[in-house]
Amino acid sequence: MSIRNLLMIVSVVLSVLIGLVLARGGGGEGAAKGSGGGGVSGGNGRVLVGLSLDTLKEERWQADRDLFKKRCEELGADVDVQAANGDDTQQIKDVESLITAGCRVIVIVPHDGLAMAKAVELAHKAGIPVIAYDRLIRDCDLDLYLSFDNVRVGELQAQYVLDHLPTKGKGRLVRVFGAPTDNNAHLFKQGQDNVFGPAVERGDIKMVHEDWAEDWKPENAKKIVNAAITNVGHNFDAVVAAADGVAGGSIQALTEEGLAGKVIVTGQDAELAACQKIVAGTQSMSIYKPLKVLAATAAEAAVRMAEGKVIVAKQVVNNGKIDVPSILNQVYVAEKGNLVQTVIKDGFQKYDEVYRGVPEAQRPPK
Ligand code: BGC
Repeated sequence: MSIRNLLMIVSVVLSVLIGLVLARGGGGEGAAKGSGGGGVSGGNGRVLVGLSLDTLKEERWQADRDLFKKRCEELGADVDVQAANGDDTQQIKDVESLITAGCRVIVIVPHDGLAMAKAVELAHKAGIPVIAYDRLIRDCDLDLYLSFDNVRVGELQAQYVLDHLPTKGKGRLVRVFGAPTDNNAHLFKQGQDNVFGPAVERGDIKMVHEDWAEDWKPENAKKIVNAAITNVGHNFDAVVAAADGVAGGSIQALTEEGLAGKVIVTGQDAELAACQKIVAGTQSMSIYKPLKVLAATAAEAAVRMAEGKVIVAKQVVNNGKIDVPSILNQVYVAEKGNLVQTVIKDGFQKYDEVYRGVPEAQRPPK
């Protein structure tokens, strides 16, 4: 079965699941309550949904915004979008302005998963439910959490490295983790540790340098790899970078040392620049996360919650305070040999852009 078919099925199953659950109007464990106000919020008679983003400076979040907005609009709702540019105080203000604007539900991609607990509290005081989008909000009465299987992301990155090391399963690794304020960054590490753990214990794998890239910034990742090179020279086999942005910064550092293309570099998000680097051979892999599925599920849940309906999700994730009803979507490895069959076939990236600059004869069949 192709990924596209699989995704369509997953998306239909999720919609049906949400629909069935709503039809039952169930409560209890895994149930997310709808908006207290219920119904219409804007003067134009349409429901208003709030979307508060950490940042729009990365390609991935622009895609999330566009897909989410489009699906909400198809469902008859308007979306008020705010982006905080990595600033917690600003993100709280953004949520306050979404409350004032009359949003019936607020969807948040937190910059800091702990700091945004306050925003959830503020929304709840106004009777507005909150959905955490992609990143968990900790220690609060969060209503719904929609994301991917983030532990699996880390496991797939680590397994790729183990499978591709020149000396099978043995090697010296540099790790660039994500933002310590992002719960996902810890889940990616946890997934990597699950896979690397036994090899580290056997002494087959050695972590020669690792650090957290504040705010997921490429320039911070570059500094980490620069520091790794200062400490251990060129004596490492892979940079396990948590996502494409920090992989990009790492590759800059490697390029300056003539190491790009010579060591394995992982990533995540299947961003266009990363896909092009995979084709060029300076990045080895990425993780493809079908944002279409996440955004559509979130939009459908948000609009239903805005209408005062209840949603029950099959899974729960504990956020330190409660078991939050959750839906976690599947993730896939994207590498040189399968870009056409994955991200391109799925319409996530365009063939001509991924292979821009590559002579026709050297391109794989469409
Ligand atoms: C997301 C990744 C993204 C990273 C940096 C994480 O929370 O899950 O997809 O690359 O943040 O924005």
